[in-house]
Amino acid sequence: MKIVILTGAGISAESGLGTFRDKGGLWTQYDLNEVATPEGFGRNPQLVTDFYNARRANCAGAQPNAAHNALARLETALPGQVTLITQNVDDLHQRAGSRNVIQMHGALMSALCASCGHRWPAPPVMAVKDCCPACGQPRARPDVVWFGEIPYHMEAIAEAVETCTHFAAIGTSGQVYPAAGLAAEARRNGAQCTELNLEPSEISRVFQTCRYGPASQVVPEWVDSLLD
Ligand code: OAD
Repeated sequence: MKIVILTGAGISAESGLGTFRDKGGLWTQYDLNEVATPEGFGRNPQLVTDFYNARRANCAGAQPNAAHNALARLETALPGQVTLITQNVDDLHQRAGSRNVIQMHGALMSALCASCGHRWPAPPVMAVKDCCPACGQPRARPDVVWFGEIPYHMEAIAEAVETCTHFAAIGTSGQVYPAAGLAAEARRNGAQCTELNLEPSEISRVFQTCRYGPASQVVPEWVDSLLD
């Protein structure tokens, strides 16, 4: 068994971190063109820096929930057989104990130099004029992938998805590509595909099996069924 899991904002919803597209979600409160694009950052770096400082503070105050814990338990039970790809920029999977985590949309806890590409641990509050510790340029930005940028680790993701026997998408609306295309790719390669979400996503027809409900319930149940 080789399991690839793709998670989205829905897995962290019960930890108190907002999703993007649900009622009251982040993209109903903020214009994503202003806070989640390179052009928005160019126009108003203070607004974007403040937005991610607020996300980082929310994340620091949140705890992993039963769904994050169940995925860590699965990796411990099946060493070397679980790859966790997350679209989330929070660190709740790592804090729950997952080790093989690919953060395809970057990480709130990391800062990136827009000049030289150096990365370093983000301070709790980043400032627009923060200097890169490597090259000294005042070009610090959150180490997150914005719309119009290429997600991280796409080669490793493609390899994992091509070779998996089981694929699960958890708490994601299936609206943002390339992440939303991974399930169909896994299915084409013969994997057993499962959707775990509060409700059917945009791409639910891709999956042979679906479990609908809050992640804190359906994810531990699914992990138990795999380990049975
Ligand atoms: P969305 O906000 O688009 O979707 C969240 C999904 O989680 C929805 O399908 C909800 O029904 C589901 N959900 C909500 N609460 C849940 C719960 N308690 N248990 C299970 N499911 C629940 O978030 P993503 O799909 O993660 O990218 O969004 C993908 C990307 O769009 C994000 O990574 C981010 C965003 O723009 C960037 O910023 C680049």
